[in-house]
Amino acid sequence: MSIDVRTEAGIATIAFARPDKKNAITADMYARMADGIGSATADAATRVVLLAGSDACFTAGNDLQDFLANPPAGDDSPVFRFLHALAACPKPVVAAPCGVAVGVGTTMLLHCDLVYAGDNARFSVPFAQLGLCPEAASSLLLPAIAGWQRAAEKLLLGEPFGADEAREMGLVNRVLPAAEAIGFARAQAAKLAALPPASLRETKRLMKRALGEAIPAQMAAEGQVFGRMLRAPEAREAFTAFFEKRRPDFSSFS
Ligand code: COA
Repeated sequence: MSIDVRTEAGIATIAFARPDKKNAITADMYARMADGIGSATADAATRVVLLAGSDACFTAGNDLQDFLANPPAGDDSPVFRFLHALAACPKPVVAAPCGVAVGVGTTMLLHCDLVYAGDNARFSVPFAQLGLCPEAASSLLLPAIAGWQRAAEKLLLGEPFGADEAREMGLVNRVLPAAEAIGFARAQAAKLAALPPASLRETKRLMKRALGEAIPAQMAAEGQVFGRMLRAPEAREAFTAFFEKRRPDFSSFS
């Protein structure tokens, strides 16, 4: 299925397992991740969710081929089910990105509570380069976390940035040697799993209260634009160029 879901000692680990495609996420994988978070939320014995890839690669983001062939349509589509489940998860979510974390690989971290990155992590939000626009409420949350100019630089230029910069920006709690990041994140998740779940839930709920409806509303606004842009010729040119291993040419667009 390319997503491993396993629950052990109160920690539900949802892990990317498609290394040959840099863990690019298909609709089936989003569906499995959404279901994994849903089960973790419903199961009283599960205290924490851990998102991980390998120590070499988190995820190259949306599978571009799958995205073009099956563009997400509406709130029921797997990608939106996943994003809504993650954003609304009442239990602590810990992530351990190592290697590439492209697009949603970076923006999903904005919905996690604790993020421990490998020193090899390469984050990027290249939506403009792909003829698209931000998703996962990143147009709201990245400026809130990193400040306007820093968020604008990342979202408009889309250039990759490393683990230390991500920590300075507030996107990452701590940077560790890549081989240790997932183990450290798991140890932090184990500490959370030993705490009273109601206290964790209430703390998270109160921290999120001020954002209220803002996150789902921003996701919905982004989703409408994203869906339209995904079908536009700019995105087609960007995606085709990626698979043809050439630079995209946007010179004819206004
Ligand atoms: N969708 C579909 N396939 C992808 C992919 C994606 N997002 N990212 C990587 N792959 C595939 C490549 O096509 C390649 O497949 P192949 O071996 O059949 O040719 C394989 O995964 C390995 O990728 P490659 O580009 O050779 O690895 P790399 O280490 O040189 O570069 C990345 C890694 C992530 C920097 C690069 O693959 C990339 O830029 N991917 C696209 C990221 C992206 O735009 N995501 C969408 C965000 S909305």
